[in-house]
Amino acid sequence: MTYADKLLLEVSGLSMSFGAQRVLDGLDLRLPPGIHALLGPNGAGKTTLVNILSTLLRPTSGRARVLGLDTQSDRRRLQRRIALTGQYAAVDEGLSGAENLLMMGQLFGLSRGVSLKRGDELLGRFGLMPARAARVSTYSGGMRRKLDLAVSLIAEPELIFLDEPTTGLDTRSRQALWDEIHRLAGQGTSVFLTTQYLDEAEALAERILVLDGGRIVAEGTADVLKDRVGGTTIQLHDDSGRLVSEHPTDGTTADVARTLTGLAGRDPGLAVTVRKPSMDEVFLQLTGHVAAGHEPTEREEAAA
Ligand SMILES: Nc1ncnc2c1ncn2[C@@H]1O[C@H](COP(=O)(O)OP(=O)(O)OP(=O)(O)O)[C@@H](O)[C@H]1O
Ligand SMILES: [Mg+2]
Repeated sequence: MTYADKLLLEVSGLSMSFGAQRVLDGLDLRLPPGIHALLGPNGAGKTTLVNILSTLLRPTSGRARVLGLDTQSDRRRLQRRIALTGQYAAVDEGLSGAENLLMMGQLFGLSRGVSLKRGDELLGRFGLMPARAARVSTYSGGMRRKLDLAVSLIAEPELIFLDEPTTGLDTRSRQALWDEIHRLAGQGTSVFLTTQYLDEAEALAERILVLDGGRIVAEGTADVLKDRVGGTTIQLHDDSGRLVSEHPTDGTTADVARTLTGLAGRDPGLAVTVRKPSMDEVFLQLTGHVAAGHEPTEREEAAA
């Protein structure tokens, strides 16, 4: 049986404290293979959880199994099957981009030829070919970030942890990375990523976990989370765009048609919008505060 028949992650009673500060508070998680996003504000414990799952940190109590292996007792075996791109770039400044990739490929047991070939493919994909032979010390922050990601992909791990992979990337690079994550998923690689960006979690992940106050406060697809928060509504606006009324619906054609038929009799001239709450609104509802780095919408300001 391969791990694909089993769970990707199995976490039970996982807690982590730094001194008196409890950062993770008895987490329980069971996740199948796939793409999962861990969403949470600054200081929520995202990096701490990723570091425990990728064997870098020993939890205060509880256990975690990754790809069926215990992060403590099977540490070495697990390390060969996963990769981690941390929140801060960890490439060798004194080497070129191509040399970093070659070194890492060989470290993972690939031949020199295969390492070079795959390294160049990855450099190409992240738009780093022009800087292939330049020392990393001359790279911009975004270029380092991309190289760091390329390095963690060279050995084609079964599971890759990405801690805030797109922080600091421009729009085009961010899109390139999203494409890369979809490509990996298509070939059966699992991804566990952390992000502050709700749209990113929604665009990439089959399952979103919201971490806040040391606990998972919500878990599910973007749609499930949205439904938890209030679901789909039909909104009616007048000519000037003012919201006249709002009506809950289950979002199906039958229910929307029934609701609209009733409304058309009363308010024939109004404009109709069917909307789901944005992930920003969902986050606000679930955690009671706005995600870090998020500009409040007019709607949220009015509600505050
Ligand atoms: N080695 C450490 N020693 C002491 N405290 C720590 C340590 N690592 C993390 N913490 C604390 O644990 C809490 C969670 O930190 P963590 O880095 O896991 O959060 P995060 O969700 O990744 O935040 P960010 O979005 O800012 O990256 C913070 O309050 C942090 O100060
Ligand atoms: Mg972090």
